[in-house]
Amino acid sequence: MNTLLIKQVKEAFLTTFKADPILIFSPGRINIIGEHTDYNEGFVFPAAVNKGIAAAIQKSDTNECVAYAIDKESKITFDLENLKPSKEGNWENYVFGVVAEIQNKNKVIGNFNIAFKGDIPGGAGMSSSAALENSVVFGLNELFNLGLTKHEMILISQKAEHNYVGVKCGIMDQYASMFGIKDHALHLDCRTTTSKPYKIDFKDHQLMLINTNVKHSLSDSAYNDRRSACENISELLEVKSLRDATEADLEKILDQVTPTNFQKALYVIQEIARTRKAAKAIENNDLELLGHLMYQSHDGLSNQYKVSCEELDFLVSQAKKNNYVLGARMMGGGFGGCTINLISKNEAKNFAEATSKAFKNTFDNECSVYFVALSQGTHIVN
Ligand code: GLA
Repeated sequence: MNTLLIKQVKEAFLTTFKADPILIFSPGRINIIGEHTDYNEGFVFPAAVNKGIAAAIQKSDTNECVAYAIDKESKITFDLENLKPSKEGNWENYVFGVVAEIQNKNKVIGNFNIAFKGDIPGGAGMSSSAALENSVVFGLNELFNLGLTKHEMILISQKAEHNYVGVKCGIMDQYASMFGIKDHALHLDCRTTTSKPYKIDFKDHQLMLINTNVKHSLSDSAYNDRRSACENISELLEVKSLRDATEADLEKILDQVTPTNFQKALYVIQEIARTRKAAKAIENNDLELLGHLMYQSHDGLSNQYKVSCEELDFLVSQAKKNNYVLGARMMGGGFGGCTINLISKNEAKNFAEATSKAFKNTFDNECSVYFVALSQGTHIVN
């Protein structure tokens, strides 16, 4: 966790609201494998990281609430009655959404002020949005003694994203951000929302992220389209979700779906199987196999599920050319953001430098390299 970030948020809150706040850190996440499987009730393999959102929150004795996005130098004043999504669809919808979903559970909160700042860029595919939602719900739960469990809180965060932001996301991001465990990744069953923690120590290898620094437009609607394609195919198959379908089941409805939707469903069924294999590979310290599964995952995301982009494909192709990289794939919703690479520790720096140069030559833009530590989930900071 970035202590400077916490300090900056605390100071900004004190200066702006003249009161001593409760401080919360809510992490972003990585995902080793299992992409677009969460809303199909499959498996994912995320971990909370030491980057995320720091928030300061306190009751307000005025008759309104203020939310302050420090990075954006943007302050919004709002009333707890009659909250509606803001039309501009900006950062405030994450805050409004959480407040409204808490109220929908008949929990009563009073006026409050909140200030926050993050150290992961939006659009990196590292869930800065889930981190923000979780920081708000966690802070309000603490401030007004709402008695919400962590499971209830992540469902509130998810609903905020569905109903106020308009992205019909799964539960992976909110879960990983809330339940993260230091040095562990969570093999999460998205049907039962229970996870098994795996200690991640890859010995002479490590995970490294490379951010394309691009976020292609329309990614939200493309995300929702994929989710509904999966749901339509589940309906055709008469199963609750694609989690319950096999490749053989899918073959039987080949002539009832378009070839592109067939490939999407096939990808999901295969990715769920890959994620279970990845857990076994980690148990057996078989990093070659894990890396191989990561490459397969990217291939499926790019060619079958069609959520990659030129920049992500380029980074993965650079990884494939380097023998020290055992596996690489795009991470998160797609259409931009980061790749996650499983790479030899000794070679990580060289690969990062060479790839950054090649990226710049090809796209005339910079990519960014992040080394992250697997960390504790959303918590109060003293
Ligand atoms: C986004 C969503 C998650 C998940 C991933 C893709 O991060 O918020 O729920 O679906 O995309 O795996």
